[in-house]
Amino acid sequence: MYRTHDCNSLRKSDIGRQVALAGWVNVTRDHGGVIFIDLRDREGLTQIVFRPEENAELAKQAHTLRNEDVLQVSGHVAARLPGTENPNLATGDIEIIPSGLKILNRADDLPFPIDANPHNEDLRMTHRYYDLRRPRFARNLRLRHLAAKATRDYLDSQGYLEVETPILSKSTPEGARDFLVPSRMTPGKFYALPQAPQQYKQLLMVAGVEKYFQIARCFRDEDLRADRQPEFTQIDIEASFVTPEDIFAVTEGMLAAIFKAARNVEIKIPFDRLTYREAVDRYGSDKPDRRFGMELVDLGESFRESSFKVFRSALESGGVVKAINAKGFAGITIGQADELTEIAKLYRAKGLAFIKIENGEWKSPIVKFFSETEKAALRSKLKIEEGDCVFFGADKWEIACEVLGRLRLRIAEIQDLHGRARPPGAPEWDFLWVTDFPLFEWSPEENKWNAMHHPFTRPKAEDMSLFNEKKFPDVRAEAYDVVLNGVEIGGGSIRIYESELQDKMFETLGISPENRQAQFGHLLRALRLGAPPHGGIAFGLDRLVMLIAGEQNIRDVIAFPKNNRGMDLMSNSPAGVDARQLRDLSLKLAKDKEL
Ligand code: AMO
Ligand code: AMP
Repeated sequence: MYRTHDCNSLRKSDIGRQVALAGWVNVTRDHGGVIFIDLRDREGLTQIVFRPEENAELAKQAHTLRNEDVLQVSGHVAARLPGTENPNLATGDIEIIPSGLKILNRADDLPFPIDANPHNEDLRMTHRYYDLRRPRFARNLRLRHLAAKATRDYLDSQGYLEVETPILSKSTPEGARDFLVPSRMTPGKFYALPQAPQQYKQLLMVAGVEKYFQIARCFRDEDLRADRQPEFTQIDIEASFVTPEDIFAVTEGMLAAIFKAARNVEIKIPFDRLTYREAVDRYGSDKPDRRFGMELVDLGESFRESSFKVFRSALESGGVVKAINAKGFAGITIGQADELTEIAKLYRAKGLAFIKIENGEWKSPIVKFFSETEKAALRSKLKIEEGDCVFFGADKWEIACEVLGRLRLRIAEIQDLHGRARPPGAPEWDFLWVTDFPLFEWSPEENKWNAMHHPFTRPKAEDMSLFNEKKFPDVRAEAYDVVLNGVEIGGGSIRIYESELQDKMFETLGISPENRQAQFGHLLRALRLGAPPHGGIAFGLDRLVMLIAGEQNIRDVIAFPKNNRGMDLMSNSPAGVDARQLRDLSLKLAKDKEL
């Protein structure tokens, strides 16, 4: 037996007990020949004291110990000397007086001190097995486990069955590029790794499973960001004979169970709801962060006759004039103004007009174009006060909203509205449903309509006639997202279950009849064999745990993540393969010029 206790369990009441502990040397200190060791395991720390006068041989051995050596220590529990207790440590009242020490393994030179927080992420990722020993990551892995367990327990209690679906599968359009796996047995053919189990879960509904879930691995070959990994995990859910309300209820219950289990927090359910149109109109985003104000205000009515040409002509050509008021931001620096202007241009604004309200004066080259009535309208609609800074967007609705939405987020960051300058009463966990997404979005590059969610999403019943009349931009989908603190944590929809409608949908997306058969023949056939009405949702488990753990990056809640070049630096993958493996797969690498 290696140990009788873990390193976080001995207390005053154990004084005098014979115990054995095992773990890593967290720190070792030499106080004039007396060696103090903090022994660490997954659960915590316990102090071991080697006094030469008590056991000269052991003290000599302890002298050779270095951080991260692996030990087994036996001895008895003693009270710490009065005044040397550590109230910050659960085991801070006691220490171990050893009678035996076994060095189980030695640690080499360490890549970085375990209590440091190295900025060099490559270094951390190269030694990820060591990085993960740090308490922050031990905690994150535990939170993830608790979230996954609460998910399974809750969905089980609601009658959901966990069913595994293939990893070696067929390409299904979720909007990203596929990872492909060449088939050896069928030369020249490829499996695709699933971007999501979307078609399988719908087929399980046709199969009569009725209530399915899976903690499912998904693969998407896309550019990586702080909240994206090429390989990530979804809590994937699908149910038959459901309306959106049924999906909302089960997922709100599930999220409540997850937050209770992981953080002991009671979240407020049911969640608020906003339509897509309202979310974009008020926050300039389909995943609004509502923990601070700075809402977009429409000024169309006030500037229709304006002598400021930029505003008037935007309105005349069917666009909008909108503004946000950044409270207390009149001290904006030139550098910040330049940065915000760059952001505005990046999102296709033609310029960025703003007014600073300083010393009772409105400072901006555009103020001279405004009439008194226009100024009064601005003052009342935007609640303008001394010290404010107002930013304008005059453009097509989509552009003006997106630009101001992006500026709103960046200004909140600059003003530290989630930290020091947090508005009073700001919710810690702001959950929100966004509903009624457009069914289609136009792709100027491909010159065609794409599905905004995916091609299996149903048009809203009220908009079916618009769909039939081919008024595609106006057709809304029976689709919904869950947003938490400005992050999209989940999304889903009610599905098309009629093969004719599904076929029409594919046709609208520009998929030829032959391709429809080749790609989706199995689904169309299944829909003709008595498919029940069904719908579902999927949550990004990594994103959810990232928020629960208070982390900024999804990599910090994944045991072995890829870096932002899609590489695993620890095992050095992706890696080359030898010629024989390629030959087995009937593959040949093209030289650059052939591509
Ligand atoms: P969607 O594509 O919206 O929907 O994905 C669902 C959720 O998965 C998370 N997510 C990601 N997390 C980390 N890295 C990524 N690269 C990544 N991509 C997505 C997000 C997102 O909300 N089959 C549909 C669901 C359905 O209709 O039921 C789907 O996959 O949190
Ligand atoms: P101009 O008349 O083009 O010199 O623009 C006057 C001011 O309005 C400048 O500060 C521009 O950056 C700004 N501006 C120009 N076009 C827009 C627009 N579409 N939305 C908001 N501000 C704009």
